[in-house]
Amino acid sequence: MIISLLGFMGSGKSSIGRRLSKMMNIPLIDLDEYLEAKEGLSINEIFDQHGEDFFRLLESHYLMQIVKSKEDLILALGGGTPCRKANWKYIKKTHSVYLKRSEKYLFNNLKEKKSKRPIIKNLNNTELKLLVKNKLADRSKFYEKAKMIIDIDLSKKQIAKIIRDSVKKNG
Ligand code: S3P
Repeated sequence: MIISLLGFMGSGKSSIGRRLSKMMNIPLIDLDEYLEAKEGLSINEIFDQHGEDFFRLLESHYLMQIVKSKEDLILALGGGTPCRKANWKYIKKTHSVYLKRSEKYLFNNLKEKKSKRPIIKNLNNTELKLLVKNKLADRSKFYEKAKMIIDIDLSKKQIAKIIRDSVKKNG
């Protein structure tokens, strides 16, 4: 089974994925890192050299490749992965979990972590706040298609435990 983690940039997909992976003894694939390793380029380089549309095609391609491998996995998606309709053909085959966070949490977390993220790297804090507000409003309808939504303010460890327990209970 694949447990996929969805959510906005800075929601903790990768770090909760790492915890869950250790806790459940299941390997973790971070889609952004997988794509970077396969392409031999960073996300920033892909955006700069080929543009966002090309990045989105790569993202869909590798998502398909990973889901088709049918292994037991924790899969941390990119923040934009669920927002392309075609990707749901694959996301729906997984146990999808939306890590729902407030605008405030996302802004505070992202303001120190802009540089590796082409969509926000050149924004000042006022612009970042606005982008979080607007993009989160646009994207929520996609994220909320997940099978499970976690929107409580708990530690990453507690969130990982909740996901593990729910997967165990529901198979
Ligand atoms: C993106 C999120 C990033 C990465 C790319 C685009 C987005 O992943 O895929 O920079 O559109 O929200 P994280 O959510 O891991 O930052």
